[in-house]
Amino acid sequence: MWKAVIFDLDGVITDTAGHHFAAWREIAAGLGFDLSEEVNELLKGVSRRESLEIIAHQAGVSLEETEIQRLLETKNARYLELIAALSPADILPGVLPFLDYLDRNGIASAIGSSSKNARFILDRIGLTERFQAISDGTRICETKPHPEVFLLAAQELGIATKECLVVEDAAAGIEAGRRAGMRVLGVGKPEHLAGADAYVTNLSAANAGLLRTLFI
Ligand code: BG6
Ligand code: MG
Repeated sequence: MWKAVIFDLDGVITDTAGHHFAAWREIAAGLGFDLSEEVNELLKGVSRRESLEIIAHQAGVSLEETEIQRLLETKNARYLELIAALSPADILPGVLPFLDYLDRNGIASAIGSSSKNARFILDRIGLTERFQAISDGTRICETKPHPEVFLLAAQELGIATKECLVVEDAAAGIEAGRRAGMRVLGVGKPEHLAGADAYVTNLSAANAGLLRTLFI
């Protein structure tokens, strides 16, 4: 059976994805660009800087390095304002019972997130101690779809990649999980989860039967 489950954070453990979207919409508006939900899907899972590069490309503007730095700081300051009030009430449905299930069955839990704010968020929602490894944007050189963040989590746990299941809500993360040699459970709307080995609308539907089916 699985030895570890590596969870993406934003949009899987807690719904910070909506706050990223709101903050990026304000930055995009400043560049004269109306950020749609469709383009926002491309930002999920990738780094802060790559997100801005995608927005600038879509807006058809080229930015000087000083302007890039200013916009990245503005975006993160706004995002931190939006998530300041995060609490355990913001843990997404099904997450706690699923973590309890993994604990009861001796399956390790880890975080694999591109975010540099991952530890802050985990502290706010009271889940830091629930994960045996936290691999995040402060510890990696390449962000999703590169597999580094998931490979680092597996290495820290000391568990072979094929015994790790990734849980993801975004295309970049699904690709990263696959490139790490792991199977991927998608969470969310099926149209955003192409390439996942299976998907659920939320983690309440993740159960022993599904985990067994996914395990080869
Ligand atoms: C990912 C999000 O988890 O983290 C992305 O899906 C985000 O939308 C990325 O850009 C980086 O986050 P942060 O908190 O370091 O700006
Ligand atoms: Mg995500």
